[in-house]
Amino acid sequence: MADLSVEYMGLQLRNPIIVGSSGLTDKTESIRNLEQNGAAAIILKSMFEEEIILEKQASIGQMQSGGTLYPETLDFYQYEDAPRESTTEYLDMLRKVKSEVSIPVIPSINCMTARQWTWFPKELESAGADALELNLFILPSDIKRSVEENEKVYFDIIAEVADRIKIPVALKISYYFSNLASMIMKLSETSIKGLVLFNRFYSPDIDIDKFEITSGSVLSSPGDLSLSMRWIAIMAERVKCDLAASTGIHDGTAVIKQLLAGADAVQVVSALYRHGGERIAEMLHDLETWMDKNNFKSIEDFKGKLSQSKSDNPAAYERVQFMKYFRGYTG
Ligand SMILES: Cc1cc2nc3c(=O)[nH]c(=O)nc-3n(C[C@H](O)[C@H](O)[C@H](O)COP(=O)(O)O)c2cc1C
Repeated sequence: MADLSVEYMGLQLRNPIIVGSSGLTDKTESIRNLEQNGAAAIILKSMFEEEIILEKQASIGQMQSGGTLYPETLDFYQYEDAPRESTTEYLDMLRKVKSEVSIPVIPSINCMTARQWTWFPKELESAGADALELNLFILPSDIKRSVEENEKVYFDIIAEVADRIKIPVALKISYYFSNLASMIMKLSETSIKGLVLFNRFYSPDIDIDKFEITSGSVLSSPGDLSLSMRWIAIMAERVKCDLAASTGIHDGTAVIKQLLAGADAVQVVSALYRHGGERIAEMLHDLETWMDKNNFKSIEDFKGKLSQSKSDNPAAYERVQFMKYFRGYTG
């Protein structure tokens, strides 16, 4: 039987499937169910930087007047749940989950600045976190801010957090950078141990009858896979840290594609909202069957086989124009 185990950020995982931060990873019962279905690790639902600061007497109102936060930014993440009462509640949940499951448990913090909240990771470490994931969601929409200002905050946060705790730290990022490959490379050369490519953000839509701005789909679809797959393939073998693929991984085939592209692990969320925790077991079954069919004994036997540096057709990942395809395309 094929060995599905992998190492991600120094953590030994029984297989490459991690459940991403979401409402699914907010309760012990649901986390136990995910473990039973084969999840190799879970990222707890994020605590917000604002929630942490709030507890230290700052108010969300103050932050808004500082121009750092639109209330709508929170909507996506509060899809199901109201904000937590306190950091104590989060730490209690972490301890409880740790005592009930044996897979690695990774808390998550959504952050935008390197201020006031950075005492909290140490508490998470003391409460038994196996690693920490920082979700940096900064939309570079302020035309007055320079590229340098936008990018500096990432390195400031790493210096404040990853350099101060012993557990491995992963950074979950978006693709909104003016020089994405170079930024991913620079981030990987810091003390972080993993990069998660990419988070999926709330996307606005427009109702043309009501003249209103509405919400796009909260869940991803399988067609969303290629963005992260392209960048995993381009950056694998180059970066100095591990890579986890996120967004659009809905079945076993998508897991295999991301591993072939060079991911060390994958994160899934929407597929589990749509199909339930059993989807993990199905993905693992499909991965194992495919490995057996191709005579792969371990994930290492094929991981990165189709990354840009190893593939016979490296240009395929850099192709952006459809010219050749448009020519014979009839719809
Ligand atoms: C309902 C919901 C809640 C989410 N909450 C968080 C969160 O608290 N922190 C975070 O980093 N990502 C959060 N995400 C993003 C997911 O972790 C993931 O990055 C995104 O959904 C893309 O993966 P997918 O295509 O497998 O869904 C959430 C996603 C959904 C659908």
